[in-house]
Amino acid sequence: MIKKYLLTTLILALTLGMTPQKTDFIDETFKKAEKQYELLIKESNQTNKFPRTEKEGKLIVTNEWDWTGGFFPGSLWLIYHQTGSEKIKNDAIKWTEALEKAKDLDQHHDIGFVMFCSYGNAIKYLDNPQKVTEYRDIILHSSNTALKRFDEKVGLIKSWNEKKAWDNKTIWKYPVIIDNMMNLEMLSYATKETGNSRYIDVANSHAHKTMENHFREDFSTYHVVDYDDKGKAIHKQTNQGFSDQSTWARGQAWAIYGFTMMYKETNNPAYLKTAQEAAKFYIYHPNLPKDKIPYWDFNANEKGYQSDVDFSARKLTYIPRDASAAAITASALIDLSSFSEGKDKKMFLNFAKETLKTLSSPTYFADPGTNSGFLLKHSVGSLPHNSEVDGPLVYADYYFLEGLTRLKELKK
Ligand code: GLY
Repeated sequence: MIKKYLLTTLILALTLGMTPQKTDFIDETFKKAEKQYELLIKESNQTNKFPRTEKEGKLIVTNEWDWTGGFFPGSLWLIYHQTGSEKIKNDAIKWTEALEKAKDLDQHHDIGFVMFCSYGNAIKYLDNPQKVTEYRDIILHSSNTALKRFDEKVGLIKSWNEKKAWDNKTIWKYPVIIDNMMNLEMLSYATKETGNSRYIDVANSHAHKTMENHFREDFSTYHVVDYDDKGKAIHKQTNQGFSDQSTWARGQAWAIYGFTMMYKETNNPAYLKTAQEAAKFYIYHPNLPKDKIPYWDFNANEKGYQSDVDFSARKLTYIPRDASAAAITASALIDLSSFSEGKDKKMFLNFAKETLKTLSSPTYFADPGTNSGFLLKHSVGSLPHNSEVDGPLVYADYYFLEGLTRLKELKK
């Protein structure tokens, strides 16, 4: 096993460090995305709710209290930014403003995803000072809401309210999931805008404790860490992965992205090192398929990983991939590459380019008019919950478009 791991590492390091990648597929992909999203916009307009996935050919939508509402407007902003389409811009405004109520979303931790992917992109790309001021205030209000889930004694933002683990006995009182790192960018913005360091102090406290408790020695991640009221980690388990000791692919992607982003915001070298090591775990993993789109969990069905979920009831004849994890990782690696040096710099960038190219190919990118209007196929929402298995996900599209944007705008 160790030998196989070392050999894979060596071959990948050599090929990724040396292969020059072309990026001329990006404009083409954005053109296709614009066309395909006309369908998603049409379908979503009929429901007035936010598109999330599809089931048996039918669009599945959510209201503004779900964690995924911000990705649709976010994707529209990214498409508008590349294509300049006035129609897409107006749709982006409409779907962003439809989320305003969520500035008070305090029943789970996801307000950063919801409000910063929507309003955060709006203020970046919209040339309308009056609206930008309005949107900025909504983000600041949302940041204050996010702080409501931070307990000073624990030192982290609580992800979910009390919840039972899959073992059917552990009760999580203060669960924090690795995904929560993604909510911190909005807090950093709030400090930059107001000069009030409270927001970034909370973000740093959360990131520090996450570094301490969410990573194993090899920089793989636990999905859920539960804390006692003094901030001691008392349970390390999973909710969406294969088993407590396995590495859920999207969780690892959130870690890579979250720590790269926190390095970008703070210049703290510990965050950079964490992001780099987490990325190397993912890139050099012997179970990563050749096309670089991971299985939904790096250890799915692997001997030695005991699950509390009976997956045999799913009757799956294959292990599904997760294109969403691939897209999140690719987008993160483009930034990580620009903060890295030497061989790593090239390696991270080439891996991201190859991933984005694969995701743009017909195996993953839907044919026009199919997939209920979503761009990418083959993602997994949550296999333990038997939910959204091997289908489109609105956040896979979002991070894919963000990755393409970053790649296109990368300073040569
Ligand atoms: N944040 C929830 C997920 O990644 O599925």
